[in-house]
Amino acid sequence: MPNHKQLLVANWKMAMPINQALEFIHSFSCSDFLDSNTKMVIAPSFVTLSSLRENISQHSLPIALCAQNCASAESGAFTGEVSVSMLQEVGCEFVLIGHSERRTLFGEAEPVLAKKVDLVIKAGLTPIFCIGEPKEVYESGHTSEYLTRQLSPYSPSTPFILAYEPIWSIGTGLIPTDEDLSCTYDTLRSLFPDTPILYGGSVNQENITGLLRHQTVNGFLVGGASLKPDSFRSLFHRMNQPRSHD
Ligand code: PGA
Repeated sequence: MPNHKQLLVANWKMAMPINQALEFIHSFSCSDFLDSNTKMVIAPSFVTLSSLRENISQHSLPIALCAQNCASAESGAFTGEVSVSMLQEVGCEFVLIGHSERRTLFGEAEPVLAKKVDLVIKAGLTPIFCIGEPKEVYESGHTSEYLTRQLSPYSPSTPFILAYEPIWSIGTGLIPTDEDLSCTYDTLRSLFPDTPILYGGSVNQENITGLLRHQTVNGFLVGGASLKPDSFRSLFHRMNQPRSHD
């Protein structure tokens, strides 16, 4: 089962070749994590996972690894795919499932995503299941219905983490209004009262303080602002300060 510590997840997508990924890791030291209430998680490309694992453990850094995707079959002849057991072998604790780029660019639909969620859970890893609405749905005020449909295959006791990422917010610098975010979180909370729910989409050093005012947000999935150690570190440190309520 996922624990309820807040998470800061770096989604490096297809960026960060090995040398840059290692430089990033080496820019952190154990003192960055003292008294931290935030779990730092990195989702690098498949090919950097094992070097990162080695370096993270050599430097005793409390950084967890997450894969960006996995195969929807346990094993077999699937050229180009990576199985959950292989991800487990290289030390992944988490697997991103259903990121909007997987859904839109690679045609991954709910049935295949549900299989992946199931395989990841069976292997004892935690899926970070991404959901989010397109712009026209947001503008027409139907976000809650759309997300409810995306989550219909899952029960409130599914041991996963959710990442709410409005598609129109990813990489655009746009984020939902406070009111809309609260309303969406109310819906998600009513469906999944005990599930950690992250927010993702253009999180950066400027907007994280405002986003942290939403007490129900359990952390963030960050793309662009996770690529530079300084900006990621500042998000991490901001999350470790007390949250303001106003
Ligand atoms: P972004 O990406 O932070 O660059 O908007 C988030 C994501 O795609 O997970």
